Amino acid sequence: MRGPGPGREHHPHGASPPRQSAGRPGPSAAGAPSCADHGTAPWSLAGARHRRTSSGPGHRGGVSEPRTALITGANRGLGHATAAELHRRGLRVVVTARDAGEAAEAAARIGPDVLSHPLDVTDQAGVERAAKELGPVDVLVCNAGVLLDTGDDPLSVPLERVARTLEVNLLGGWRVAQAFVPGMVARGWGRVVFVSSGTGSFSVGLWTGAPAYSVSKTAVNGLTTMLATCTKGTGVLVNAVNPGQTRTRMVPTAERTPEEAATDIADAATLPDDGPTGVFLRGDRQIGW
Ligand SMILES: NC(=O)c1ccc[n+]([C@@H]2O[C@H](COP(=O)([O-])OP(=O)(O)OC[C@H]3O[C@@H](n4cnc5c(N)ncnc54)[C@H](OP(=O)(O)O)[C@@H]3O)[C@@H](O)[C@H]2O)c1
Repeated sequence: MRGPGPGREHHPHGASPPRQSAGRPGPSAAGAPSCADHGTAPWSLAGARHRRTSSGPGHRGGVSEPRTALITGANRGLGHATAAELHRRGLRVVVTARDAGEAAEAAARIGPDVLSHPLDVTDQAGVERAAKELGPVDVLVCNAGVLLDTGDDPLSVPLERVARTLEVNLLGGWRVAQAFVPGMVARGWGRVVFVSSGTGSFSVGLWTGAPAYSVSKTAVNGLTTMLATCTKGTGVLVNAVNPGQTRTRMVPTAERTPEEAATDIADAATLPDDGPTGVFLRGDRQIGW
């Protein structure tokens, strides 16, 4: 693979990411909801860990029950590790994957009480069917992704490859969000996490060594801020996570284990009620888009 790879550090040369300047942003122009309202306030999970309550039970019809988390692409890699971590934190977990058998197998590897469901994020009818069959989902982790263009160049990458990448990485997550987030808004509580990447970050510069992949993650970041804006104040928090380079089939040479990276994703999926929305998280810190 050329270049630093899909989970590249924000600082490829190993320097620490800069801390963002402290201080709250002023009110947005004309009082309209603005992504800037969320995006420039620095956030540290470290300060909020002691009061995280969100993996705890929800209350439906007066009955206390665990939150339900659905993870896409959870048959392997980061998705599977995230499902296992959320299960460990006490959530009711639905492992989804393109292949029903793989989803069931992956769920069984985590625990006998873990649910599974087939879900191809490019299949509109299948996603709608899953939303009907599964009932309320409180936590959505849009993790499914493909890296199809390592070594390509923006000037020559076949646009069909770009389209296939966007179909999974952008439209897949968007489709699943459209199916599940309105229910969260109606119930007044939800957590949505998009598994993004430093390769799509303007603050570092997009990675030209996988142009379709990188721009798909930039678009995912844009989608994150839009969904955060339109769900602001509803009890639904929508954020993106950069897991960093992680050893999966996508980046087999990375040092970070999926279990380590999954902790960051699970943290964003179990934010406390006063947690941020519309931000990009790396570890326990907010980073620049
Ligand atoms: N590994 C890294 O360093 C790194 C860094 C930054 C971000 N990420 C992101 O992390 C996410 C997970 O990647 P990974 O590293 O765990 O790679 P991975 O092992 O290749 O896993 C990708 C997952 O996405 C699933 N998937 C692909 N197309 C799908 C579709 N149409 N519908 C549903 N699921 C689909 C795959 O399922 P199948 O088994 O059926 O193909 C697989 O479960 C991706 O969004 C990736 O961009 C990874």
